[in-house]
Amino acid sequence: MEQLEAARTDRTKVLLFCSPSNPTGAVYSAEQVEAIGRWALTNNIWVVTDEIYEHLLYDGVTSPSMPVAVPELADTCVVLNGVAKTYAMTGWRVGWMIGPKDVIKAATNLQSHATSNVANVSQRAAIAALQGSLEAVDEMKLAFDRRRNTMVSMLNEIDGVQCPVPHGAFYVYPNVQGVLGKTIRGKTPQTSAELATLILEEAEVAVVPGEALAPAAICDCRMHSVTLTLLRVSAASRLCWLRPSRPEPPAQERPH
Ligand SMILES: Cc1ncc(COP(=O)(O)O)c(C=O)c1O
Repeated sequence: MEQLEAARTDRTKVLLFCSPSNPTGAVYSAEQVEAIGRWALTNNIWVVTDEIYEHLLYDGVTSPSMPVAVPELADTCVVLNGVAKTYAMTGWRVGWMIGPKDVIKAATNLQSHATSNVANVSQRAAIAALQGSLEAVDEMKLAFDRRRNTMVSMLNEIDGVQCPVPHGAFYVYPNVQGVLGKTIRGKTPQTSAELATLILEEAEVAVVPGEALAPAAICDCRMHSVTLTLLRVSAASRLCWLRPSRPEPPAQERPH
């Protein structure tokens, strides 16, 4: 709350809220969601709440929808959601907004001129997904959960890397501060962007540096556990060479 208050000015109009979060996988508790919603209400700030990861929660954690936690926000809150994450339908380009009528009408007008709306086949597929059961989602979640645990524990085995356990979405967001400034394969990364380039070139693993996501996050990297069964066995083990204690394998034995 102090951070929000410190960032607020007379010109603050909207709070963008995302829980579970991209990029960190962090989940706000019911109390936190309510406190943040009440803060917005008190300060006359609209809330745009992106709830696209609502079903991707682990460890029994829950996180309420913002206007459910603070019903008084109904007239100043827009909920965003879509099929991309819950139903693994990234690329179908279907999402939706729930909000006050006038806002939705204005957004509809804007979108109809900008993109001429969503392709019919995508709309049909989205309806089928939404009307189906969440059984497939539960199955997918089990796989994400396994990968999450594997990624977190393998990352935490690397000296200098601290990876908190994410309770939602499908990202891990390790702090790599302890690796920065160390010389690895002749290069000495000073920022997570430089480390990301090094990891890409040497381990052939793509990670997103924290600077790309939050200007101050020079020591964080985001990694996905969605499509990456591979990451478990291959990419995460490729990162093992970051462990200074482990001798580097000769070039021909480096994992591919
Ligand atoms: C928080 C959040 N909202 C929305 C989206 C957009 O999903 P799409 O454009 O695939 O529907 C993403 C995708 O990465 C996301 O992380």
